[in-house]
Amino acid sequence: MKSILRAVYNRARGVIKTARANWSTRRRAAEWRSDAWEHDPAYSRRTTIGEYSTYRQTQISKMEAMIAAGQTQRSPRDLALFLDRFENLPLPHAASVLCLAARLGSEVEAFIKLGHFAVGVDLHPGPANSFVVTGDFHALQFADGSVDCIYTNSLDHAYDLDKIVAEVRRVLKPGGFFVLDAVDGYEEGFMVGPRDTTHWPTAQAFAGMIAERGSFAIERHTRPDQHWQQFVLRKS
Ligand SMILES: C[S@@+](CC[C@H](N)C(=O)[O-])C[C@H]1O[C@@H](n2cnc3c(N)ncnc32)[C@H](O)[C@@H]1O
Repeated sequence: MKSILRAVYNRARGVIKTARANWSTRRRAAEWRSDAWEHDPAYSRRTTIGEYSTYRQTQISKMEAMIAAGQTQRSPRDLALFLDRFENLPLPHAASVLCLAARLGSEVEAFIKLGHFAVGVDLHPGPANSFVVTGDFHALQFADGSVDCIYTNSLDHAYDLDKIVAEVRRVLKPGGFFVLDAVDGYEEGFMVGPRDTTHWPTAQAFAGMIAERGSFAIERHTRPDQHWQQFVLRKS
């Protein structure tokens, strides 16, 4: 009797999960076709972002929710994932690395474990974060030509892509690397989340557009894991 009840319960859970996923996909697809997004050939921007102050509040609301839920510990799984993504990067020995939109700082910790000097910026780094300082990737507090490498996986949270690209170019040393991890685009089967401001048809089209705007050369393109592509761009 117990095993029959368990089987019925598991079946019901499966049906509800599938229905939810289908509903969410349909809702996102409808939103995607609506005027909530404007589409360029290489990327799309949410039209409902509003003023910068509204954007900023939306972005920091995730960390506020994480603090309220007591979820401010870096996870060993994230660290392992970033170590995997970074171990073969073509960086100089003990490079200086700036991580944009690094939240709790798992990517910063990974660069440090690989022997580099690294620090992150985020609009809201959470409490007592020794790896990430408060900062905005549209207006970095660092000197011109001062770092060997800039890393981000968060350009889908941009307010103004041109400002970010100009800041990356300004702060990188000549010959420095801009390492961009980008999720798959909508033509590659990936849809964005509610705080994402920016998405793209394919990660490659997006990275190509970033390279063009910043006059970077794309030196490498890999797929480190299921939904992510990695681009190593170089400042001339
Ligand atoms: C999806 S999370 C990624 C966090 C981290 N890179 C990781 O992989 O764990 C996006 C992060 O971007 C941050 N963010 C959004 N807009 C930003 C901005 N203008 N400047 C700096 N950080 C920003 C958010 O606060 C959030 O922590």
